[in-house]
Amino acid sequence: MGTLAVVNSAPLGFFDSGVGGLTVVRAVQELLPAESILYLGDTARLPYGSKSPETIRQFADEDVRFLISHGVKAVVVACNTATAHALPRLREHYRVPILGVIQPGVEDALADPKTERIGIIATRGTINSHAYQHALAQCRTGLVIHGQAAPLLVPLIEENWIDHPVTRQILQVYLDPLVDKGIDTLMLACTHYPLLIPMLKDLLPPGVRLVDSATTCAEHLRRELTRLELLAPAAQSGKLELYLTDLSEQFEQLAHQFLKKSPGRIRRAVLGG
Ligand code: DGL
Repeated sequence: MGTLAVVNSAPLGFFDSGVGGLTVVRAVQELLPAESILYLGDTARLPYGSKSPETIRQFADEDVRFLISHGVKAVVVACNTATAHALPRLREHYRVPILGVIQPGVEDALADPKTERIGIIATRGTINSHAYQHALAQCRTGLVIHGQAAPLLVPLIEENWIDHPVTRQILQVYLDPLVDKGIDTLMLACTHYPLLIPMLKDLLPPGVRLVDSATTCAEHLRRELTRLELLAPAAQSGKLELYLTDLSEQFEQLAHQFLKKSPGRIRRAVLGG
């Protein structure tokens, strides 16, 4: 008799401060189409990037509780700021597997053995946490790492100023010090930034490698689900359920943009119940 593969059809839970984490969802849907996903965007309390570590940890805790109460089999913290400040504590408190976006990004950045001088752009919260800097330094010695907080980028992207001269100018101001330091790799350490990839490619000197953790995160998730025997049955057709703590037309439009397709019906989530 053959061994039966162990599968689990329950949804994966994703959360982010808003709809930016849908860049990770998109990558996961492409790689793991059988997985159903329950996504929570805490749009009522966005942004997390400018809040204190204590507040971010409290919000992340409420987000995870919401997902667990909806029966998810694992949680992906699809927010760099929440991963930076809350991941270790969440893992201590909850029994479901919880994955963040930092480790996959670090693995991707270091996949090229020639990587030496790394620039990181992220929210102020992520840069100040030094989570990326520590994770990189732990994996390889001798790296030169420069973190650059870029707090104006999230509001510009939310305003859909993706291809706007003002965004270009501001991005240039953030990139200049990193380019001056001769970076060979730039990590996009914020869920919103993949939307700026065309502009970033235009502004950076040729040869600077861009690392966007969404794809690596999906691969990391597949490895973990396989190891934990939590993959969905291959014949399942994965569904996406989207919950936001504040519903508005603007967030619906943004969700469409991040997902590159209609997000379907969006429900309102009430946290802390
Ligand atoms: N999701 C956040 C991150 O990836 C960006 C938006 C925010 O500041 O809440 O860091």
